Amino acid sequence: MIELNTATKHYDSFTAVDNVSFSVRTGEYFALLGPNGAGKTTIVKMLLDFTRPTSGSLSLNSISSTKAASRNAVGYLSENFRIPPYLTGWQYLQRCAELLDISRHDARDQCKRIVRLVGMEGREHTKANTYSKGMIQRFGLGAALIGNPKLLILDEPTEGLDPIGIRETRQLLESLKDQGMTIFLNSHLLSEVEKICHTVGIINHGKLLVKNSISAIVKDGDTLEDVFVRLVKG
Ligand SMILES: Nc1ncnc2c1ncn2[C@@H]1O[C@H](COP(=O)(O)OP(=O)(O)O)[C@@H](O)[C@H]1O
Ligand SMILES: [Mg+2]
Repeated sequence: MIELNTATKHYDSFTAVDNVSFSVRTGEYFALLGPNGAGKTTIVKMLLDFTRPTSGSLSLNSISSTKAASRNAVGYLSENFRIPPYLTGWQYLQRCAELLDISRHDARDQCKRIVRLVGMEGREHTKANTYSKGMIQRFGLGAALIGNPKLLILDEPTEGLDPIGIRETRQLLESLKDQGMTIFLNSHLLSEVEKICHTVGIINHGKLLVKNSISAIVKDGDTLEDVFVRLVKG
């Protein structure tokens, strides 16, 4: 579903992503882990063609990321996601559906279902400038679900959420497993990642240190956090 082939990104003389290759299979829940500045968001931006690799290539669904068709059925939540303060959460979701050319009737049904799914029923008709960060994040995840994507690319989906929001997000993402969803997420919440993801990649200074199943990486008595700290400090 996702493939990176020696993907490299230079910003002038600085190497943000250094010769990274890995793939994520259909139905896989994958988390890219790494300290701040490791290159996680740059990888997401290359996957979605917001920026082009200096060398190497990336693809979604076997189509080069440089082609718009690669983004069919892809839902995306950006890091630092915001809703324009003058829109309500409902209006924002409706606008997203419009941009996807979803009919008015279908959009209403989908948005209703999604508002319920992200736990925002009753709050959808107030303006975004009254929302907490966690509420905005929930609507952002909701927006990523519009159009029934097959692949979700989520850059720090639990950023700003309280423990209940984090748990509900995990439960929501878990509930999508049955529908054959593929998920690529960036996260710092290693204990959450350990609960939900099949595979992780650990990146530091733009270099991929490991990509494997959690069970192969985390040995007896260790936690994912132990492995992470050891590799990154390594
Ligand atoms: N547009 C840019 N110009 C120059 N440097 C950038 C740019 N975008 C990101 N970087 C640098 O690339 C590195 C990786 O950034 P990023 O991918 O956002 O990291 P992460 O998401 O892992 O925190 C950082 O050191 C960042 O400062
Ligand atoms: Mg980032």
